[in-house]
Amino acid sequence: MPKFTRKQILAGAAPLIAAAPLARLNLPGHSHSHPSATHEGHNHPTLGHAAMIREHVPAPGGPHDLDKLLYPPEALPYKRGRVREYELFAVDKTIEVAPGVHFNAWTYNGTVPGPVIRATEDDLLRVNFVNGGSHPHTIHFHGIHPSNMDGVFEVVPPGSSFTYEFPARPAGMHLYHCHATPLKKHIHKGLYGAFIIDPKEPRPPAQELVMVMNGYDTDGDGGNNFYTVNGRSFYYARYPIEVKRSQTVRIYLANLTEFDLINSLHLHGDFFRYQPTGTGDYWEYTDTVMQVQGQRGVIEIDFANPGEFMFHAHQSEFAELGWMGFFDVKDE
Ligand code: CU
Ligand code: CU
Repeated sequence: MPKFTRKQILAGAAPLIAAAPLARLNLPGHSHSHPSATHEGHNHPTLGHAAMIREHVPAPGGPHDLDKLLYPPEALPYKRGRVREYELFAVDKTIEVAPGVHFNAWTYNGTVPGPVIRATEDDLLRVNFVNGGSHPHTIHFHGIHPSNMDGVFEVVPPGSSFTYEFPARPAGMHLYHCHATPLKKHIHKGLYGAFIIDPKEPRPPAQELVMVMNGYDTDGDGGNNFYTVNGRSFYYARYPIEVKRSQTVRIYLANLTEFDLINSLHLHGDFFRYQPTGTGDYWEYTDTVMQVQGQRGVIEIDFANPGEFMFHAHQSEFAELGWMGFFDVKDE
């Protein structure tokens, strides 16, 4: 395991948002050769489009690895008496968060973030939780539910299970996470995910995406070394998200970043509507939103133009350490 301080990584990664990412980090599995676009004798690399997007971007994994986290299950119109059932198991797993950089995570179902949980308002949500990890865990859902379903008191020891059951309320974009102590550790190790409750009358059709913003403290110094959406640094720069211009793009966005006070999403080349917490009548019209940990909301973009549009944290440091990607907006 490489031992880098946050500062060393940052120093190495400074040109990264415009450079072939991570090549300068001298990480295992990477050659020490300079990014091909760097001019000798110049301090400022002149970098082409290619270095920032698609095959020149080193991100871990293949093109569809994160589909289950990016594309939520379908919204269902309200039906009286329906039960929505999910199986979640906690498991310790080493995951690759950047090329050659591994993180000893605590996960729900083997991924960070965990699976997207979705129900319609007043569905009976039933989540069968099995703790196959090495520490006591819980699932704490945001939303309205009884005290004994809150994931605070009923701590589930390793090898045990617990079933959470309550009517899903209120409609909105929510989240879930472990609430065992020490809370900071159980969250930054990776036990969290998106929890969507659809209104009884579903939202208008859209190209729906989920983005959970997070960070990883890979050297154990209490600060994040990498930042991502949906768990892998630079993933959506390596594999841009293809969308059609003809239909609204709806993003369910949540922030589960530990250690840093805020995170944010900024979209290039366009504006979007933002509904905080995915509830109520208030929509903001902007190109940048900020969230503290636990905040979340719904973004709706009607792209004005086709082409490649970047999105990233507007903390430039986070973007340089992995939290950036692209939409590839297509006209059919
Ligand atoms: Cu836990
Ligand atoms: Cu919370």
